[in-house]
Amino acid sequence: MIVFFLLTNTDNTFQCGATVKYNNFMKKFYIETYGCQMNVADSELVVSLLQDKGYKLTENYKESDIILVNTCAVREKAELRVRGKLTLYKNLKKTNPNLKVGLLGCMGQRTKDELLEQEPVLDFIAGPDAYRDLHNLIEKAEIGQRAVNVQLSKEETYGDLKPVRLDKNGVTAFISISRGCDNMCSFCIVPFTRGRERSRSDKSIIDEAKNAFEKGYREVTLLGQNVDKYKFEDVDFAKLLQKVANVSKKLRVRFSTSYPHDFTNKVIQVMADNENICKSIHLPVQSGSTRMLEKMKRGYTREWYMDRISAIKKIIPECAISTDIIAGFCSETDDDHKDTISLMKWANYDTAFMFKYSERPNNYAQRNYADDIPEDVKSERLSEIIELQSNMSYESNKQDLGKTFEVLVEGTSKRSEKRLFGRNSQNKVIIFDGNKKLVGKYVNVTVNKFTQATLLGEMNE
Ligand code: 5AD
Ligand code: SF4
Repeated sequence: MIVFFLLTNTDNTFQCGATVKYNNFMKKFYIETYGCQMNVADSELVVSLLQDKGYKLTENYKESDIILVNTCAVREKAELRVRGKLTLYKNLKKTNPNLKVGLLGCMGQRTKDELLEQEPVLDFIAGPDAYRDLHNLIEKAEIGQRAVNVQLSKEETYGDLKPVRLDKNGVTAFISISRGCDNMCSFCIVPFTRGRERSRSDKSIIDEAKNAFEKGYREVTLLGQNVDKYKFEDVDFAKLLQKVANVSKKLRVRFSTSYPHDFTNKVIQVMADNENICKSIHLPVQSGSTRMLEKMKRGYTREWYMDRISAIKKIIPECAISTDIIAGFCSETDDDHKDTISLMKWANYDTAFMFKYSERPNNYAQRNYADDIPEDVKSERLSEIIELQSNMSYESNKQDLGKTFEVLVEGTSKRSEKRLFGRNSQNKVIIFDGNKKLVGKYVNVTVNKFTQATLLGEMNE
């Protein structure tokens, strides 16, 4: 699980307006984000909404009046981490009794009022579609009322908002293109926490991309639970991708997450036709066994998935492919597991996110199947999957030795300001020496070393 601790590069001006109440004057809030990129994008919306109401963002939770924890519910582990963090904030309240703590996002949506009862430290909860109401929830909390808004919406896309970018480098930006998910994969909690699928207008997406480019951003990642289902009037995902690519040849475009059942050759073709659309596709397979895929309600077979990978490799041979895999889903046999291993080898993924199945309350799998794979078997299978992927990632990086890539410089390394890092089109991180003035610029780098996780190289003059 990736944990993002969001720091800000926001401007410090106090935004005045009729909606700003005197008692909010310079109230400081701190926001911390767990989970996926979509949550990071949501936190950027929350910052925008609260700044408009006169609240001021701080990077230091110790000096904040309000702490917001934007949460993930996709696996139990993610929730346990948040619970641990809440204990820290409970202790903080002992020294700062006026501190208010609010929980945002999927975990709050899943648990609703129940969590308020279990966690007295919490003053309010807002689900993913309730962020416009956040200032009201905070105001209620200020007068001692604990409040919850977990109303899901069929229309809310926050399409009119201008997110406050939280990425310090000012180079890469996330743009949500759709919210929610209608797929109902049996293991997943997301359709229950993020509600029905809805797409944002293409115009608002293009405007946001143009705006980011004008501010100096050089890469946008289009985000949705299933980007391939994007549809606004007559604009489908392939058309949208083309429109975003047209914003500027100097703006890199990435997207996540694709869904095998809906992933079309049209999208692959648009990628092939546009140099600035990055050659990297994240196509979660979950399992290599058709029997498991059926139980997972994924809507495709092993063969269908393989056909999609073949199409990518045929149309864009240099495209990097990554995936998500779940080990030990309900009733998974050794043979099912072997199917996953053989599919991984066949696909030869560049990278993968790999998880043990984690039962989630009240979704289809929990209500209909037994979580019957013993923990040690889940662990063994996951280890085998991780080991295989580590070897394949190592081999994939080895293939890059001696190659020269165009790299968008994203920042300096933590250890030295003279070390830069960026990514190539295939989404691989490359580290090399250079001047920090190059952040936000494209440079050519030749790979001369590698590890399983990163490439190291030298910049061409
Ligand atoms: N247990 C384990 N992994 C899960 N994922 C989603 N739900 C679960 C679960 N209940 C994984 C899937 C998905 C990724 C975002 O998280 O692989 O693609
Ligand atoms: Fe969950 Fe499936 Fe939707 Fe992804 S596509 S969010 S796994 S239900």
